Amino acid sequence: MIRKYRDEDFDKVLGLLRDALVHDTITPEILKEKIHEDPNFDPKMALVAGEDGEVSGFMLGVTRDVRGERIGYLKLMAVAPDQRKKGVARSLYEKMEALFRKAGVQKVRIFDVPLNYFQPGIDPRYTEALCFAWRMGFERFDDTSNLIVDLGRSDWETSDKEEKLAQEGIHIRRATEEDRVELLRFIEDEFALWRHEVSMSFQRDPIAVHIAEVNDTIRGFSAYNGNNVGTGWFGPMGTSGSLRGKGIGEVLLKRCLCDLKDEGNKKAIIPWVGPIAFYAHHAGARVDRVFWRFEKPLR
Ligand SMILES: CC(C)(COP(=O)(O)OP(=O)(O)OC[C@H]1O[C@@H](n2cnc3c(N)ncnc32)[C@H](O)[C@@H]1OP(=O)(O)O)[C@@H](O)C(=O)NCCC(=O)NCCS
Repeated sequence: MIRKYRDEDFDKVLGLLRDALVHDTITPEILKEKIHEDPNFDPKMALVAGEDGEVSGFMLGVTRDVRGERIGYLKLMAVAPDQRKKGVARSLYEKMEALFRKAGVQKVRIFDVPLNYFQPGIDPRYTEALCFAWRMGFERFDDTSNLIVDLGRSDWETSDKEEKLAQEGIHIRRATEEDRVELLRFIEDEFALWRHEVSMSFQRDPIAVHIAEVNDTIRGFSAYNGNNVGTGWFGPMGTSGSLRGKGIGEVLLKRCLCDLKDEGNKKAIIPWVGPIAFYAHHAGARVDRVFWRFEKPLR
């Protein structure tokens, strides 16, 4: 039986995901974040498989309007190890696809959900998930990777560089509540899909955002803890095109890495990249996990 997820299912769903997602660590906080902090959370699209209050499968979907297109995303999915290959995931997906069609979705993707996501695609070590995606009519269209930074390799000190930038009229500091509106407007203009993550970073204590200003105007930013809090999650970051190449990005990046280290993290994750060479050069970042991205047009 497929039914809507209810709050009472939380512990069972968490247990199921912990058993199934053997290459990941999912905490209660992260599961709450994935379900309830999603700006487009739709309870109809949180589906559970199972009889009599039991949970043998879970699939979380969401829709977003991205660059003029409505996209349906699977954000999390798992079936209990002893219930696999019996059609559970297929039943969940068929129900989800029907909901997506009803919602006017033009294509479906797996896990690479902008704004609020767990991982940016399928880690191919979950080979059964690749097989499942192909069988459901998806095609792989790209891959992406998460980088990892060993935070112990440096103290991430940037004061000398900040002084030099200040001489050029570029000032870098932690954002305050008063910067929120201006920063979100800046992001809206230049990096619209990152607005939500940065809003989440503003809710952390201390505010998990650093900014670069020229003439009292925000021209660059970096953020962390906008997703998957507790895992050392960095990003997003961006500098205005005309100011690139001056070392602003390096300082913005290192300020976040310093904060993540002070929080007690041994590693930082730089997800879904992006400019690998930039992170490798400034932080010794290395490619860690690779994710395959899948898409299915709905006609
Ligand atoms: C991927 C997963 C959700 C599939 O669940 P499931 O209930 O076993 O899948 P179904 O029985 O509905 O299978 C549907 C189709 O997927 C394919 N498939 C599923 N598991 C497969 C496997 N182990 N090997 C090959 N094909 C497989 C089959 O083609 C099947 O279609 P068919 O029955 O018509 O042949 C499940 O294996 C799982 O929870 N894996 C671990 C968690 C995971 O990988 N989540 C995604 C993280 S990236």
